Amino acid sequence: MSLEDRMDEEACWQLLDRFPHGNLCGSTGQGTPVMRTLNHAILDGALYFHGAATGEKRGMLGRPAVFGCEEVVAQIPSYWRDPISACPATTWFQSAQVHGMLESVEDAGLKARAMSALMNRLQPEGGHLPIRVDEELYVKMLRATCVFRLVPSRLTGRNKIGQNKQPEDILAILRGLWKRGTPQDLRGMETILAGNKRASRPPELCGPRGVELIVHPSECLADQAAELLRVQYWSGPYDHGQLLQAIHGAQAWIGARDPQTGRLLGTAAAVSNGSKQAYLYDVAVDLQHQGKGIGKALTKALLDHAMVRGTRTVILRTRDAMELYRPFGFELTGGGAGPDGIVTMLRKQGAPA
Ligand SMILES: CC(C)(COP(=O)(O)OP(=O)(O)OC[C@H]1O[C@@H](n2cnc3c(N)ncnc32)[C@H](O)[C@@H]1OP(=O)(O)O)[C@@H](O)C(=O)NCCC(=O)NCCS
Repeated sequence: MSLEDRMDEEACWQLLDRFPHGNLCGSTGQGTPVMRTLNHAILDGALYFHGAATGEKRGMLGRPAVFGCEEVVAQIPSYWRDPISACPATTWFQSAQVHGMLESVEDAGLKARAMSALMNRLQPEGGHLPIRVDEELYVKMLRATCVFRLVPSRLTGRNKIGQNKQPEDILAILRGLWKRGTPQDLRGMETILAGNKRASRPPELCGPRGVELIVHPSECLADQAAELLRVQYWSGPYDHGQLLQAIHGAQAWIGARDPQTGRLLGTAAAVSNGSKQAYLYDVAVDLQHQGKGIGKALTKALLDHAMVRGTRTVILRTRDAMELYRPFGFELTGGGAGPDGIVTMLRKQGAPA
């Protein structure tokens, strides 16, 4: 494993915490290898799992075991970097493994805490009586359920995101991800840009004055986007949670971020079926930063998004920002303004981007 790829312990725990499940691998006393996909909980620096009293996991007790989670960051085809050779095909990923001995948990109080931690991960919205050792409802269940623990003797992880690649190779890969544009590709782009010092945002995703055009909303950016939208004239009936849902529910989202402060300056979204129609909505720029070309940059990038790029028509509604959209080929539909003063604009495929 290259040093640059190695993930520190804290990053390993964060990755393990992000995933609801992983694979537990070990062996039975007869030397039979066993692998099980399991939900896990993290408690006091150890991993906890549950299972039936007669299950195969019991045979793994008291033996070395490893539990691992992994996530694909980017699936990279060879032809993004070489038109002929198959060799450059690769997968960039993040993974974490906990190595240790698999133990059985017998203490009823600890079993209850572990089961409660599992439920918190699987059902954070609650909707059940909390699992406690003294709760009548769960006494029998706690007795019948086996709880297992893996105390780490070693924690390993990899963050393989092209740290050993040249900037121009990384740029070619980021461009490929943007063009292909699946949700995994766009999330992967932000992971690579945030974690690889050699990676720089493709020019088509750079706004005016160094503003970064972000292609996947983190929780924090989505939150800021919802705040930005809350004050717009069309957001009246929607609360923060509903505006957040409209951001996460978009098939295409672009944010404009100040590289110095990390603050979100603008947001734009689209729903789309990817081939026939796309609908642009929630385009807004922070009042303090309007008139500097950010709105134009957001619109340009959104029209180049994989879910919008190839659609036959793109539709939007606006009260007074027609001049922003006209240069991109949007035209007023014949219907005129509605009682709310809002008009519909349409862009047919083949119009300028
Ligand atoms: C509309 C908005 C997104 C434009 O963003 P921006 O960063 O200020 O715009 P830009 O600096 O990129 O300017 C884009 C062009 O559109 C024009 N334009 C922008 N907003 C406009 C408006 N409300 N009315 C008319 N023209 C407008 C500008 O004149 C500019 O053209 P120019 O470069 O030829 O001068 C922004 O002003 C905003 O958030 N407004 C409030 C919310 C809103 O109305 N959103 C649009 C909903 S459809």
